[in-house]
Amino acid sequence: MVGFRGCPIGPNTERTPGRTAIITYTLREPVRVLITGIGGFAGSHLAEHLLHQTDWEIWGVVRHSRWRVAHLQGRLHLITCDLTDQEATVAMVRRARPDVIVHLAAQSRVGASWQHPWETYRTNLLTQLSLLEAVMRTGIAVQRILVIASNEVYGPPLYLPVDEAHPMRPVTPYGVSKAAQELMAQQYALAHHLPIVRVRPFNHIGPRQDKGFVCADFASQVARIEAGLQPPVIRVGNLSARRDFTDVRDVVAAYRLLMLHGRVGEVYNVGRGEAYAIQEILDILLAASRVPIQVEVDPAKLRPSDVPEVRCNPARVRAHTGWTPKIPFRRSVLDVLDDWRQRVQTANVDTPTTAHESKGGRHA
Ligand code: GDD
Repeated sequence: MVGFRGCPIGPNTERTPGRTAIITYTLREPVRVLITGIGGFAGSHLAEHLLHQTDWEIWGVVRHSRWRVAHLQGRLHLITCDLTDQEATVAMVRRARPDVIVHLAAQSRVGASWQHPWETYRTNLLTQLSLLEAVMRTGIAVQRILVIASNEVYGPPLYLPVDEAHPMRPVTPYGVSKAAQELMAQQYALAHHLPIVRVRPFNHIGPRQDKGFVCADFASQVARIEAGLQPPVIRVGNLSARRDFTDVRDVVAAYRLLMLHGRVGEVYNVGRGEAYAIQEILDILLAASRVPIQVEVDPAKLRPSDVPEVRCNPARVRAHTGWTPKIPFRRSVLDVLDDWRQRVQTANVDTPTTAHESKGGRHA
């Protein structure tokens, strides 16, 4: 079997009774990878990780904001493109001619999706539709497409830890948009044989995350209080929720391994397999703060519906790729605080982000 640019791919097709055929490919170097949402939180870390770990050629789609990849300037091929624009997307794919695509661009704030369901659906569905249609229309023999969904597709878990067989019962507009993205991806895989791997990352945290996510929300306030820019009161939402937090630098390592070893047609959870209470994040940050801080619950930060506990069963990604997270939870939280201390100092706080940047949409 011969793949794009004569790269041998294959050879394995596995059939599990009653299931879609699962095809495993082995990527052959050199690889051109296209990351949508490269200017976002996860996208920028993925670019950095691939530059360290591979000699792949890295192409990325950006819209307005490039600050997260500024330090990688000259080592990436960046294309400015509105992914809801079909013709622009076709031109972008034709130019990048990727072997592998990682589709991260999204409106990714769960909280914001309640206030902006229309934009969440529009952004998350249209960008992926444009991208998959562009692959079809250009006829480029992409070897693998990673569609990044979310554990939000599961909704309130019926059992813990949540494995991939858990039904999709999303309760947030964001979760529904991600479930729809998955169905769309599956349709292109079944009908057009696009080599799609679906991924459901659980919560991830780390440097360069924007406000709107709990760890960044808390750490940014601590940094502002330390700098004397805010009274010594931290405003918080629901502290009893428990989430499965993994460092973004570990999450992107899983994405690389899934590009290499993930099975086409398969869906993978990516998470640590351990849940932490939001209170634990707060406790780590308050203990690390250079000044005393009081805590105040802000009713505006409480959500209409908030899953009490989420915990991932990562057995499949481990079995198929050997991935395990390496960075301890406490280290990640402290790194987020250090990142915010620096950002507050350099006034890089309210960065102009767009809906086309992964894990860093437009709404606070
Ligand atoms: N954002 C935020 N800000 N959340 C808070 C706050 C706060 O000040 N205080 C408490 N929380 C609680 C939320 O109510 C929620 O229970 C939990 O902290 C985590 O909130 P987020 O960090 O906003 O994450 P999320 O679980 O809603 O969504 C994130 O993870 C998903 C995977 O589980 C996002 O990264 C999604 O894009 C991702 O799919």
